[in-house]
Amino acid sequence: MCGIIAYKGERNASEIVVQGLKKLEYRGYDSWGVAIKNKDILLRKEVGKITDFNEELPKSSLAIAHTRWATHGGVTKENAHPHFSCNKEVVIIHNGIVDNFQELKQKLSKDHKFVSETDTEIIAHLIESYLERGYEEAIFEAVKRIEGRYAILVIFRDSNKLIAARKGSPMIVGVEDGGYFIASDIPAFLGYTNKVMYIDDNEMVVIDDGIKFFNLDSRQEVQKRLIEIDWKTEEAEKEGYEHFMIKEIMEQKETIRKAINQDENKLLFIANKINNAFGTYLVGCGTAGKVCQTGEYFFSKIAGKHINFAFASEFTNYHRFLTKGGLMLTVSQSGETADVLEAIEVAKKKEVEVISLLNVFGSSMMRQSDFSFMINAGPEKAVASTKATTSQLALLMLLAYACANKLDEGKKLLIDTASKVNDMLNPRYEEHIRKLAEKIYNSENIYIIGRGANYPMALESAIKIQEVSYIHAEGFAAGELKHGPIALISEKTPCITLVANDENKKDILSNAMEVKARGGYIIGISPENNIIFDYWIKVPDVSDASPIVNIIPVQILAYHLAVLRGLDPDKPRNLAKSVTVK
Ligand code: F6R
Repeated sequence: MCGIIAYKGERNASEIVVQGLKKLEYRGYDSWGVAIKNKDILLRKEVGKITDFNEELPKSSLAIAHTRWATHGGVTKENAHPHFSCNKEVVIIHNGIVDNFQELKQKLSKDHKFVSETDTEIIAHLIESYLERGYEEAIFEAVKRIEGRYAILVIFRDSNKLIAARKGSPMIVGVEDGGYFIASDIPAFLGYTNKVMYIDDNEMVVIDDGIKFFNLDSRQEVQKRLIEIDWKTEEAEKEGYEHFMIKEIMEQKETIRKAINQDENKLLFIANKINNAFGTYLVGCGTAGKVCQTGEYFFSKIAGKHINFAFASEFTNYHRFLTKGGLMLTVSQSGETADVLEAIEVAKKKEVEVISLLNVFGSSMMRQSDFSFMINAGPEKAVASTKATTSQLALLMLLAYACANKLDEGKKLLIDTASKVNDMLNPRYEEHIRKLAEKIYNSENIYIIGRGANYPMALESAIKIQEVSYIHAEGFAAGELKHGPIALISEKTPCITLVANDENKKDILSNAMEVKARGGYIIGISPENNIIFDYWIKVPDVSDASPIVNIIPVQILAYHLAVLRGLDPDKPRNLAKSVTVK
């Protein structure tokens, strides 16, 4: 959840890590801190966002930095990272959670004085307690005693080494002539290099004059390859847009097409696995979870296959139904979501193969899956997922067509959908939705209804509106309204109705009518206008691909609701982009 970055090399490390943190703020933004190594180590920590920090810090060739999303301990300067050990010999930043921190703190408190409430500080003291064995040995010993997930970066008062270790939390090395970067995410250093080395779980990296990787258990050196990634710097910048969220929404002109540009043999190979599997589960969290839920409908309607959906956080409760020969299809933008990683562990124990749909190349999930597909959406930096969502939907749909042995038909439909989205996303369209936002941004509640594959999209619409505008929003299966929730409808309550030109059309329009009869304000997202609608947002008619086009206007609406309410849609309160804790 937190963002971390370090640099060691010929450039000015202090500037690189501060700029890197600004690029990583989407990971956490309640406080931040930097440790700069010269003769001594200078610590600078602040509560709040780093965006407006413009001071010049002392130049250096080695620095580490952290932007925090609080877990253990409140949002205070003391709890912000980096953390010193007692004698100030060791400085550490950490992403993850030390599960046994209370036990360790108790043991260490006889000889060590703690100044923060964090679990991280314990690691600094733990390393200090083994320091007489040497820097690398001290870290080997310390991490042996830590239970939980971590990515740590450590520097020392009396050495110029930069050491990192990881287990379960993301971290990657960037390499250029004359310097090394280590960060939780590639965009932190993408402006300098696209050459990377992956740090696997249970590994330690030591950067001194050169770079060496070690296995944390065997303590043996591990050889690594240099990999070039094809993300471009511009993709990770705002490029004239006010916020990443709207930039990424507009990128859907291109990203749907990129998502379906897959190796056909691989699609057919995986389709064959799904067709012959002894039960398949679609697993994800949040928005990616809603994509999985939509996938259930795609596989049922297109391929006549019953595939189960489960939220990753609930998945451990289903493990009894997993058997050898089963399959798990995970969907995740970051590839680092802790709940999904845990679900994968459960599947692996049952000898169930895992196939992942991911956006971040080299992520933990990619490395832990048996097979993976990249959705190729480019870096998604706004906390609210938009372009990754429609890419995931498109690729899942294509897989369903592959399972039905109708890959060409699926491709044709999705290419047509991508081209219609391209036409739809123009300034006039955005303005039409902004005008709607002006009418409803003071609403206390917004409801969204859908049927069939658009039911999970109603749920996803609610997530989008809630997380960036903080308006109470709820999605319902339209037919369920009359069984209770319709009591919530009063005069002028906005009710977004997701309509598709499919077998559900007549019924969803009747449900909207029931809401209108109780005073509701009906916002129709539909290929055709209807007398019931108080406000109509036109979407192209793309038959079974309707969830892809129906969610886009809601993304634009959520964005403008947030802006009109004076909020920063890129950094919603309490949230972080990758949820690497359980
Ligand atoms: C909401 C949102 C989250 C993520 C969820 C899973 O807009 O982005 O609900 O979908 O945290 O994240 P990934 O896809 O990285 O596994």
